[in-house]
Amino acid sequence: MYRTIYSKQGGKIQLDGREVINMASNNYLGLASHPQVMEAAKAAIDAYGVGPTASRNIVGNFPVHDELEAALAKFKEVEATLVFNCGVSANTGVIPCLVGKGDTIYSDELNHGSIIDGCKLSGAKVKVFAHKDMASLEARLQEAVEGKKLIITDGVFSMDGDLAPLPEIAELAKKYDAMFMVDDAHGDGVMGPMGRGTVDYFGVRDLVHVETGSLSKAFGSAGGFVAGKKELIDSIRPKARSFIFTASPMAPCLAAGALEVIKMVSTDESYVNRLWENREYFVEKLTKLGLNLGTTITPIVPVIVGEAELAQKMSADLFEKGVFAQAICFPMVARDAARLRVILSAGHTKEDLDLAVNAIAESARNMGLI
Ligand SMILES: Cc1ncc(COP(=O)(O)O)c(C=O)c1O
Repeated sequence: MYRTIYSKQGGKIQLDGREVINMASNNYLGLASHPQVMEAAKAAIDAYGVGPTASRNIVGNFPVHDELEAALAKFKEVEATLVFNCGVSANTGVIPCLVGKGDTIYSDELNHGSIIDGCKLSGAKVKVFAHKDMASLEARLQEAVEGKKLIITDGVFSMDGDLAPLPEIAELAKKYDAMFMVDDAHGDGVMGPMGRGTVDYFGVRDLVHVETGSLSKAFGSAGGFVAGKKELIDSIRPKARSFIFTASPMAPCLAAGALEVIKMVSTDESYVNRLWENREYFVEKLTKLGLNLGTTITPIVPVIVGEAELAQKMSADLFEKGVFAQAICFPMVARDAARLRVILSAGHTKEDLDLAVNAIAESARNMGLI
């Protein structure tokens, strides 16, 4: 069954009765259990209780939802945002609002499962292009279609930690009169100035029509959102089925936690800086060991080992050594590209990173990888 965590999320966690260095959660900025964030969530529980028990459009809209949406819009430098109960709901709700039957979606082959589901729900025709391959995308765009066109990509790909070439995609979107949507679940709070995301990292804010994201990663809470022009957000608000039909909107305490994180990171870049310092320190050491880290340029660092069995064995061995990194195997990645996926966090200390590097080095040597 599942491993069970008996502590707060952090650089170190209690996992199945053992303290381990946590290299598997998406707590990029280490803020999920920051005292200030927990206090904000607790205050919201005192004010509003635990569950919202109604959809936002009935009696489940709390002031903190509105405050969060405004803060998120300011942080992302967009006109408006709308929060969902998770990133999966944002994608499955938003995509069918943008296109429908008779329209065409162009989707990177490695896009997240919730994008794939959103595309299916929309009823639009889906043309998949090869991963980050602009010739493949352009060839699909050249095929004659009727109706609207929508290109969708992850900003940061969660298995390899690589980035979508947003400027090139934006250029093709313009050339072929397509809308452009980016899911930046792993880029928000991580990439670009102040962690504003991959769109800002590339400086293409004006060329991206829609962004979706998650509050369950760098923002240390749980929830999803869509960001863009006010007119677009207002058109999604009454239409997105995962928004209007749920009496489980983002819980007010989670909204309050995410809002606190946004306030913190909007004025203090040290969290994002620490994340990147940790990432550079760790990657430099692993690169020196001669491990295959694929094409990552983000805090998601795959250690590609090949066979699934080897990845699982290495993950189990590391657990014994006090480090937890998830083994990722087919069908999540290609059959011969099984890996340990290591996720860096601002919550890791240098000591944590040294211990993890030493454990990975010993394990890799024992398994004949280096
Ligand atoms: C690229 C991407 N989009 C969307 C999601 C879903 O976000 P959430 O966890 O908030 O449902 C994830 C989650 O891991 C993701 O990696």
